Amino acid sequence: DGLYTVSLIEGDGIGPEISQSVKDIFAAAKAPVKWEPVDVTPQLKDGKTSILPETVESIKRNKVALKGPLATPIGKGHVSLNLTLRRTFNLFANVRPCRSIAGYKTPYDNVDTVLIRENTEGEYSGIEHVVVDGVVQSIKLITREASERVLRFAFQYAQNVGRPKVRAVHKATIMKMSDGLFLGTAERVAKDFPDVEFDAELLDNTCLKIVTDPTPYNDKVLVMPNLYGDILSDMCAGLIGGLGLTPSGNIGDECSIFEAVHGSAPDIAGKSLANPTALLLSSIMMLRHMGLNEHAQRIETAIFDTLAEGKSLTGDLGGKAKTHEYAEAIIKRL
Ligand code: IPM
Ligand code: MN
Repeated sequence: DGLYTVSLIEGDGIGPEISQSVKDIFAAAKAPVKWEPVDVTPQLKDGKTSILPETVESIKRNKVALKGPLATPIGKGHVSLNLTLRRTFNLFANVRPCRSIAGYKTPYDNVDTVLIRENTEGEYSGIEHVVVDGVVQSIKLITREASERVLRFAFQYAQNVGRPKVRAVHKATIMKMSDGLFLGTAERVAKDFPDVEFDAELLDNTCLKIVTDPTPYNDKVLVMPNLYGDILSDMCAGLIGGLGLTPSGNIGDECSIFEAVHGSAPDIAGKSLANPTALLLSSIMMLRHMGLNEHAQRIETAIFDTLAEGKSLTGDLGGKAKTHEYAEAIIKRL
């Protein structure tokens, strides 16, 4: 039927409302996508979080999924579902772009950063133990294999999107072995991409410079170990107005999951107050990943124009529009 089937994880809290906006806008734009809703209720087996086999099958079959926010359970033995998904499908690279939104004023203009985060190991390996009472270890695991995989991806990405400068962000002055391995691998991989400029920067210095003036980062692809990417990507989101406006894509060899990074906002759930922009922009990344560039472009332009016009903004952006009114304003521009 010429349609691409995409697994849809609507998510908790505001998830269903913002997913509805994406569905409505895709339908209006005649994007050739058929949604397959999947259930990600966590299955706890022997203290381990897992997801239903039919959900795993759906995502593996469709190769792409769109995901709304999932509440992270707090407590021992509960691995975040977000992490479970990344692990289950070996989604080794997390791509997080941040672009200024015309019409939404922040202290920064023309921000256009791209950050790629290693997505499987580092401090997220989940290896922690008590040595003796009052002394704990949380292991930061870095492997050459995972480093090389995400670094190759970053160089390839830089080449593909015509942004041929890769900068590795690290703290190898202190984490001599783990970040040293990451940095050394970056230097080696860089040799295979002679058309892509490569350099490296210390994480603290990146933080200082990027909040002082982000423009020198507008032509670079930043790549870094997992936790640094988690923190620095929120910082980049802060430059443009927060996590309600930033997309992300978890990329693997077999499949990819595009997700809004923000939380499930239970306080405003069900009231049509949520801003669906982050999930919408994630769905645009998804369309591009699927090669549906024309649809991506058309919807993206409608989103940015609606935001720039400023008449139908949701409450978080200082407007009065309901979630569905914002979506309708986008649809009118398609
Ligand atoms: C993110 C989130 C997740 C992370 C949480 C929800 C587990 O903060 O995607 O950045 O730490 O990776
Ligand atoms: Mn985060």
